[in-house]
Amino acid sequence: MGKSSKDKRDVYYRLAKEEGWRARSAFKLLQIDEEFNIFEGVTKAVDLCAAPGSWSQVLSKKLRLEREEKDRENVKIVAVDLQPMAPLPGVIQLLGDITQTTTAEEIIGHFAGEKADLVVCDGAPDVTGLHALDEYVQSQLLLAALNITSHVLKPGGTFVAKIFRAKDVTLLYAQLKIFFAEVFCAKPRSSRQSSCEAFVVCRTYQPPDGYIPTMKNPMFAPNYDEEVNQLTGPNRVIVPFVTCGDLSGWDSDMTYGLELPEFGEKYVYRPPTQPPTQPAYQKACQLKKSDLLAKAQCERPPDVVAVRKAKKEKQNLIDDGISDDLTNAFAECFLFGDS
Ligand SMILES: C[S@@+](CC[C@H](N)C(=O)[O-])C[C@H]1O[C@@H](n2cnc3c(N)ncnc32)[C@H](O)[C@@H]1O
Repeated sequence: MGKSSKDKRDVYYRLAKEEGWRARSAFKLLQIDEEFNIFEGVTKAVDLCAAPGSWSQVLSKKLRLEREEKDRENVKIVAVDLQPMAPLPGVIQLLGDITQTTTAEEIIGHFAGEKADLVVCDGAPDVTGLHALDEYVQSQLLLAALNITSHVLKPGGTFVAKIFRAKDVTLLYAQLKIFFAEVFCAKPRSSRQSSCEAFVVCRTYQPPDGYIPTMKNPMFAPNYDEEVNQLTGPNRVIVPFVTCGDLSGWDSDMTYGLELPEFGEKYVYRPPTQPPTQPAYQKACQLKKSDLLAKAQCERPPDVVAVRKAKKEKQNLIDDGISDDLTNAFAECFLFGDS
């Protein structure tokens, strides 16, 4: 294949080279900005997982080059990646892992007590080709980015991050909604339709009252019990466990005799108020009655119903409301004996 074949197949790849972007990803951030105006009023920004640097180029262009000299003074852009990146004017570059507390501390150090207006993250793990694993690792990277963001983003700030629209994506949206007033899922035109890649655009950072930024993430906690179970306050969501009903009432785990004063003089059997209308085994029972049920290859258990009945009588159990016919058929279908 000739050198130009990729230019033919991927117009954004070609455009990136023509316009001087380090990667075609630049167009994704530019197109997100066209829709959400994410750079407005931003002076401090963090680019997580930045290499080779096209998003940092976009940040540098939008926050510095396209602004007047006086408006550039307070601009600070910090870019982080596991991989080294060629220098870019006006961009502080850090080599680090965004899942590590030390990386968060290093970023914060560069803001000298101030916070960022915008955090972007285009992080992607090395894909294994095992979709479920890739999606999981991607979601963990997003949560790591959110943890860093909770350390560095100012209230009201914006967070943009790559997300895979996979099975558990609604859970991620719900988690993000705890921290941001608005959460959108954006699919820029430059992101291939065939890819489940999209970007969350989270506006108006507002962590829950009393939330203490943390880097704790179950996946990266080598000692879960020590690290995660020790979280307190809003960092630890504990759903109240409430016991209901009279504690001196009937015990659902106990076996009681049939003759109980609370139930009247003498035990009288009553059928269930409403037997199941369409039990899962109904079809099997009908097939069995018409002798249409496939026969099991193994030996038929001897008189299943008789064994079951005897056992029932012995245990003095209340009838479960299923006729012996059904029990027999069901037992025979699945060789569901008591032996
Ligand atoms: C798709 S690239 C980013 C492209 C970049 N936004 C650009 O426009 O040039 C994904 C990057 O995520 C980085 N990455 C993955 N896991 C990381 C981690 N735990 N910490 C820091 N960077 C990470 C990779 O090294 C890679 O450079």
